[in-house]
Amino acid sequence: MEKKSGFSSRIGFILAAASSAVGLGNIWRFPYLAAKYGGGIFLLVYIIIAVTFGFSLMITEIAIGRKTGKSAVEAFRQLDKRFAFIGYLEALVPIIIFPYYCVIGGWVVKFLGVYVSGQGAKAVEDGYFGEFIGSVGGPLVCLAIFLILTSLVVIMGVEKGIEKVSKIMMPLLLIMAIGTAAYSLTLPGAIDGLVYYIKPNFSEFSLKTVVAAMGQLFYSMSLAMGIMITYGSYMRKEDNLESSVRNIEIFDTGIAIIAGMMIIPAVFAFSGGDKEALKAGPTLMFITLPKVFHSIRGGHILGLVFFILVLFAALTSAISLMETIVSFFFDKFGIARWKICLGVMAFSFLMAIPSSLGNGIWSHITILGMDFLSFFDFASNNILMPIVALLTSIVVGYIIKPKTISDEVESSGVAFKSKLMFTIMIKYVVPVCMVIILISSIVGYV
Ligand code: TRP
Repeated sequence: MEKKSGFSSRIGFILAAASSAVGLGNIWRFPYLAAKYGGGIFLLVYIIIAVTFGFSLMITEIAIGRKTGKSAVEAFRQLDKRFAFIGYLEALVPIIIFPYYCVIGGWVVKFLGVYVSGQGAKAVEDGYFGEFIGSVGGPLVCLAIFLILTSLVVIMGVEKGIEKVSKIMMPLLLIMAIGTAAYSLTLPGAIDGLVYYIKPNFSEFSLKTVVAAMGQLFYSMSLAMGIMITYGSYMRKEDNLESSVRNIEIFDTGIAIIAGMMIIPAVFAFSGGDKEALKAGPTLMFITLPKVFHSIRGGHILGLVFFILVLFAALTSAISLMETIVSFFFDKFGIARWKICLGVMAFSFLMAIPSSLGNGIWSHITILGMDFLSFFDFASNNILMPIVALLTSIVVGYIIKPKTISDEVESSGVAFKSKLMFTIMIKYVVPVCMVIILISSIVGYV
């Protein structure tokens, strides 16, 4: 991404923001959370907060970016000098997320390798995946491959090319996910799984559902880390901000919902309806999907194509995560870009080691009862991002006032349809919810 170059069309902007947003969060994280937190009820809560809460926060970030034309730190400084520190907090989030993102990216690399070498049958054996992530060398090598691929793109600056490819890959991923979901639903016993996934069971509702859904929302929509401010700074003034945000949101949430449909009914089918199987957590996708592919004739080809697409979605997100970190240091210190890239790469590898080994030889080391990967995930999604969102809502709601944002939204000459909802959200609902989330996270509710 070059400064000042900007997006040349509205659709270009939407696709770029969507390819940053759509990643492992949608395909890997959303289904396991939905499975774990009650299925239908999680889905319902997620959709409600996505169209209200997520929408308001995303529109705020993109509008701040477009108004100031700057990325996070400078954007906040320009709005109000005292609040530049929010920008720094935002910069911290990708630094925490990126390393463990690469660990999961490495798992995708591994599965791609499995299918490339025609060993799809092995991947469905009981304990295969657990053994893999519990080992030392394999996951670290895969992690390194993923990290190097990402760094190469960031160093060579070929994001533009990647963007072009993603225009083809993203729709393909969508089609494949729909196809796989449709097939999953034909498996015996899958319909019970579908019912679990879409029918809200209110007895499963708890504050935990909301906390988990909020964390997922931040993660999936790439909120509260300054990335959308940066994207907004490249957006053209004449484009309709509100409808662009709606489009990104529908794209992101749609892919997540379909991914859940691909995985959750299949879990029911293969486990004979055993609810315990739903609690697999971060490993869910890697255990269930190979079984789905294995049950189809010629499924290893599908598995191969599928993991290529997932890898691609993961890479485009990882690239924009790394780019965020790199451009932060570049703006700050002005050292040569490639040096920063190498530094970020080395640092991220070191930081990723505990997250990787935490599934095996370091599994006895826990922080607040969580392994490293879960801890980093928790610290960013459930602590830091809510803090950033809380501060942003206070600054926007009470210091610069919601009108600044709505004027920016309307500067393209169209009315801001959800203005009232946005104002109520940002002034009252967001701050109150964030305080509740933070308290419940800190007292260990999750
Ligand atoms: N939204 C991405 C996903 O769903 C993950 C992510 C979080 C991200 N924050 C980001 C990607 C910032 C790019 C930039 O996988």
